[in-house]
Amino acid sequence: MIVEPVISGVVAKTSHPEGCKKAVDDQIAYVKSASPIKNGPKRVLILGASSGFGLAARIALTFGGADADTIGVSFERGPSEKGIGTAGWYNNIYFKQRAQQADRRAINIVGDAFSQDVREQVIEAIETYFEGEVDLVIYSLATGVRPKPNGEFWRSAIKPIGEAVSGSTINLETQAWEDTLLEPASDEEIEGTLKVMGGEDWESWIDTLVNSDSVANGFKTVALSYVGPEITHPIYLDGTLGRAKVDLHQTSHALNLELSNFDGNAYAAVCKALVTKASVFIPGLSPYLLALYKTMKEQGTHEECIEQMQRLFATKLYGQEKVPLDGERLIRMDDWELTPEVQDKVKQRLSEMNQDNFKQIGDFEGFQRSFLNLNGFGFDGIDYSQPQDVEALKRLKP
Ligand code: NAI
Repeated sequence: MIVEPVISGVVAKTSHPEGCKKAVDDQIAYVKSASPIKNGPKRVLILGASSGFGLAARIALTFGGADADTIGVSFERGPSEKGIGTAGWYNNIYFKQRAQQADRRAINIVGDAFSQDVREQVIEAIETYFEGEVDLVIYSLATGVRPKPNGEFWRSAIKPIGEAVSGSTINLETQAWEDTLLEPASDEEIEGTLKVMGGEDWESWIDTLVNSDSVANGFKTVALSYVGPEITHPIYLDGTLGRAKVDLHQTSHALNLELSNFDGNAYAAVCKALVTKASVFIPGLSPYLLALYKTMKEQGTHEECIEQMQRLFATKLYGQEKVPLDGERLIRMDDWELTPEVQDKVKQRLSEMNQDNFKQIGDFEGFQRSFLNLNGFGFDGIDYSQPQDVEALKRLKP
C-alpha cells in the first residue's frame, strides 16, 4: 500500500510509518548533540507520550543525558482494515525499538488515560519494571473528551468567554485562510473544558500514585501549559482553554504542597506555541503560529517540541540548585517567545497578514511542513512512492 497524506480540515487521516521513524530518529540525534540533562530522573511516567511535547520529553529523558527508563501512556490506533493507523502508534513502536537498542526500558501502554484500567496497568508496570517507584511524571495529555463516571462524556469546547471573538484559521486541507466568528462558550462548555483540560485528572493521577506508594523520594511532576501573548488572550487565555490552564496552574500549587511529604515538587511548565496535532485545532491560533515561526526562525530562536523539552530538563528542572520560576510559580519555557523583539515583529506581521498574503508574510511553508512531519510526511530521504507492507506493520506491537 502506498501511503499518501490525507488531510481533512486540520486533521491528518493517514500517517507514514517510515517517516515517523525518521522523526523519532531526528529527535534522538538532536538531544544527543544538545547540552545534556545532568542529575536527571531514571524512572519516568509520561501521560501523553506518543506525540508532541510528551514524545519529545520521552526522547529527551532517554537519550538526552538522563538515560531514563520510561512508561508511556497514549491513545493511538494501529493498522487495520480502517486504515494505516495513527502517527503516535508508530512513534511508540519506533521509540521503543531505539530505547531497547540503547539498553533502556520503554513500556508502552495504549489506552484511555482517564480510565481506572490504565491506572492499574501503570501501577503494575511501575511495580514490575521500576521496583515500585517513579521519579518523574509528565502530564501531557491533549484531548477533547473525558468520560464521566456515568458513561457520558465531558467535552471541551475551544471558545471565548463572555463575548464573541473573530479570528482566522488556516485550513491545512485546502490551504485557505478562513475567517471565523467564535461565539462565547456556554456554562456547560466552560465546565466541560475545565474537566477535560484542567488539573483534576492530573491531581487524581498523582493521588493514585501516592496512594499506591509508587512515588520515590524527591519525586517531581510537571504538567504542560500555555499562556501566550496578549494578542492571543481573547481566544486563548481569556477563553475556555485558558480557564482550564489556570486551573492546571492552581493544581500545581496544591500538588506541590502535598508532595512536600516526599521531598517532591509539582510544576506547570508554560511552553511555546508550536504546531502539533492538538494546536492546529485551536481556532484562531494559526495566523499567530505563522507569524511566530517566521519571526523566531529569522531571529534564530525557533524551537520545536524536542528543543523545548531538552531545555526544560537540562536547564530548568534538573542540574540546578533551584528550579527557576516566575512570580506565579510557573516554569517559563515561553520565555523566548514572549520577548519584545519577537512579539513586536509578530504583531507587525499579524497586522499586515490577510487571506491573500499569509503565505508570504507568515511561515506557511514551515507551518505546513511541521504538520506533515508530525504525520511522517514531507521528509527528505524517504521514498514515499514505495509501498508499505501493512501485514508486516500489523505484526509490530507497541
Ligand atoms: P499532542 O496531540 O501532540 O499529544 C497528545 C498526547 O496525548 C498524545 O500522546 C495522545 O495519544 C495522548 N492522549 C490524548 N488523549 C488521551 C487519552 N484519553 N488517554 C491516553 N492518552 C491520550 O499534543 P501536544 O500539543 O503535545 O499537547 C500536550 C500538552 O502540551 C497539552 O496539555 C497542551 O495544552 C500543551 N501545550 C501545547 C502547546 C502547543 O502549542 N502545541 C503549547 C503549550 C502547551
